[in-house]
Amino acid sequence: MKHNGLFITLEGVEGAGKSTQIHRLADAIGENVLVTREPGGTPISEQIRNIFLSNSDMCASTELLLIAAARAQHVTESILPALNTGQIVICDRFSDATIAYQGYRKGIALQQIEKVNHIATGGLTPDVTFLLDLSPEIGLQRKRNSDEPLSRLEHEKLTSHQKVRQGYLAIAKSEPHRVVLIDAQLDEDTIHQLLVSETKKRIVSSKSFISYT
Ligand code: TMP
Repeated sequence: MKHNGLFITLEGVEGAGKSTQIHRLADAIGENVLVTREPGGTPISEQIRNIFLSNSDMCASTELLLIAAARAQHVTESILPALNTGQIVICDRFSDATIAYQGYRKGIALQQIEKVNHIATGGLTPDVTFLLDLSPEIGLQRKRNSDEPLSRLEHEKLTSHQKVRQGYLAIAKSEPHRVVLIDAQLDEDTIHQLLVSETKKRIVSSKSFISYT
């Protein structure tokens, strides 16, 4: 799908450090940036996020359809309008998360996920995806050490998180031009520099009106 902006997504297992890096990257880019997240990013999508995260015993198809509903609203109301006006959109998780979490973790066929993702996104795909790769043991330990309570997904057993990681690594392998694989055990500043330099490259090569302040 054509647009005038730059669509960046960050992905990774729980505790990979996406949030910190997203905010640092947005600060480094300066103006003209929309930072958003999935599931969420609009009032309707944030309501769906609450339903998604606060109910246990949710079946796989319900997870998929809730995530897709939140994404459809997010793309239509927020992401696409921003991209069409030449903004840089940095999104904390997007369609790849559905492949990793609802496909690899919950076992939904990847073809089905692709179809549902397509309905939700209208064909919008990220220009670049930074995958912060980390062993789930370390990621979950980081989460446990933080002040925030664990979400229902974070409470799941380790094998579930390992499947998510496998899913992400499979995506990175199949789409090396789009997905930049980053070792999330590198120190925070090194990761930040990597993200900034990769983003600058994309800004230069995009035929948009984006400038780097
Ligand atoms: P967050 O904690 O990174 O904000 O993400 C919220 C949770 O939602 C996280 O556990 C992963 C999950 N999720 C999915 O299961 N599928 C998806 O497509 C997305 C975007 C998130």
